[in-house]
Amino acid sequence: MEIKNKEIVSAAKPSADQLALLKGKDILSAAQFTKEELDLIMETAAYYEKKVKDGEVLKDMEGKVMASLFFEPSTRTRLSFETAMSRLGGSVITVAESAKVQTSSTAKGETLYDSIRVIDLYADVIVVRSPQKGAADEAALAAENPVLNSGDGAGEHPTQALLDIYTILKERGDLKGLTVTLLGDLKHGRTVHSLIRLLSHFGCHIILVAPEKLRMPAEIVADVEKLGVDVKQTDNLSEAAAVSDVLYVTRIQKERFENEAEYDLVKNDFIVESELLKTAKEGIVIMHPLPRVNEITVDVDDYAGAAYFRQAGNGVPVRMALLALVKGCVR
Ligand code: CP
Repeated sequence: MEIKNKEIVSAAKPSADQLALLKGKDILSAAQFTKEELDLIMETAAYYEKKVKDGEVLKDMEGKVMASLFFEPSTRTRLSFETAMSRLGGSVITVAESAKVQTSSTAKGETLYDSIRVIDLYADVIVVRSPQKGAADEAALAAENPVLNSGDGAGEHPTQALLDIYTILKERGDLKGLTVTLLGDLKHGRTVHSLIRLLSHFGCHIILVAPEKLRMPAEIVADVEKLGVDVKQTDNLSEAAAVSDVLYVTRIQKERFENEAEYDLVKNDFIVESELLKTAKEGIVIMHPLPRVNEITVDVDDYAGAAYFRQAGNGVPVRMALLALVKGCVR
């Protein structure tokens, strides 16, 4: 799909001054970014997307190693980071395990801090996902090399939110003045915790729709409102969809509930089905970080504005941009 707004997402190579902005930095929270840095990431992602589409073989990260450390399940984030590093000509070392299946020395009781101190000697950049909120910050304290937070429990998922912004720019051309509704488990959903902070840079109106017990944490809403962002909360999905340009759907995060009975009480509260699209705003873009369970029915997949699979594809150029920028390796 073509990038619609060349002014916001130009595919130009970043200048030397721009390249200095993120070099050597960790990517830990969406709260860390300036608008200038966000524009740089979007432009660099577009730059790499074009190069890959043109069939160029890249050597920007040749000789560099990315450690891909996933202590919680992942399909998209891990594989798109690993694809991104491969596309840049670099190499990947991986730990992919869960609490049930452990293959690293975590099983012997090694702390994350100690593991990262060692892995930092093997790799040039470290990508980490953990079920523990704050794990990426701990990893960053242990590492000299840049650490990229790929999801820390119910905390944040900043690289997902960056690809979400990139997706909206590609789908709609601009974010200014758009109404974006975030739907689902806004309490535990780390993608929306990061995305709402990024949206605050782009002049959007935000609507939050969630079961009462799964509302966006009040401190995050307060932070965004302090920046002058218009945030409305409602439990009326069809009214929200009728005025929204983007509907960002999230899964109810079963794994974050204390017991299954509590999950069962809310799991079917909001389901997006094709019937909803009949009264939704014309051209509404439907997004989802995936994986989905039942919150978007498969008949919605045929709707032209169903962007969630394109969104997952955007993970590769955005993560290429992040890897190359934090290592100062955009050639
Ligand atoms: N969106 C996302 O984080 O997907 P994975 O859990 O498959 O990485």
